[in-house]
Amino acid sequence: MNNDSGHKESAEQERWYAAAFGSLYPILYAHRTIEAAAPEARFACASVALQREERALDLCCGTGRHLATLEETGATLTGIDYSAELLLMARDRLKPSTRLVRADMRRLPFNTAFDVVFSFFTSFGYFYEDADNLATAGEIARVLTMGGRFFMDYLNPLSLERTLKKETVRSVNEYTFVETRWIDFDRRRVNKQVEVNKDNQHIETIHESVRLYTFEELATLLHQAGLRVFTCQGDYHGAPYGLDSPRMIISGVKAKP
Ligand SMILES: C[S@@+](CC[C@H](N)C(=O)[O-])C[C@H]1O[C@@H](n2cnc3c(N)ncnc32)[C@H](O)[C@@H]1O
Repeated sequence: MNNDSGHKESAEQERWYAAAFGSLYPILYAHRTIEAAAPEARFACASVALQREERALDLCCGTGRHLATLEETGATLTGIDYSAELLLMARDRLKPSTRLVRADMRRLPFNTAFDVVFSFFTSFGYFYEDADNLATAGEIARVLTMGGRFFMDYLNPLSLERTLKKETVRSVNEYTFVETRWIDFDRRRVNKQVEVNKDNQHIETIHESVRLYTFEELATLLHQAGLRVFTCQGDYHGAPYGLDSPRMIISGVKAKP
């Protein structure tokens, strides 16, 4: 595939997600804590009316920061993630009864049905091929019971295009992160490159890239997968979704075709 400068992304670049969520990720996003996630997890539970006797999946659970609050509900919980490092951190902070599984979101290793699937903090749209993002939605639908609910916290492409900060520099402990962001309008993706310096030495470059789906495109994709959208909110206070919303938060159900 060609990007807007005409060159083809390598297979390695397209698999950016396999390298981006290693041991530096919790430092880069040190402000994304269990405490910050707690009201998000409670809002999500209320949106889908999660009950204690139900089974819920946190798709792309990372370090388990939302699962930590979901445990308060008494529901039977599973988290999946591709990053072995983040799953180890999650294991340390969660109850033994919370099952954690390493898997790719496009191929979930479950026949088990879930009553609810959560996807927090832009964990969707990672793949360069729309078919792979559709496969992920298909897996959400496949593992849900008929009538099961899903909750997806995704970026708002409309506000992001206007508010994107091209470059920021941040320090966390001995690390300095130089973050450069840009939109590839041809591929309709938002990209980020992070140069990581430790004690003034460059140690790593991290890439992130997320497909920019409009609400209509995402609702259509979810519909194709067998999911129906029933609400779209713009933030974690329940404001309606619009041009300036910080987020696109979709709740819906698995419905008969
Ligand atoms: C932006 S983080 C969000 C993590 C978590 N939901 C949170 O809010 O902290 C995205 C997560 O998706 C996981 N991930 C990336 N690619 C994946 C894939 N192909 N299959 C499953 N998980 C993946 C990453 O390891 C990371 O934990």
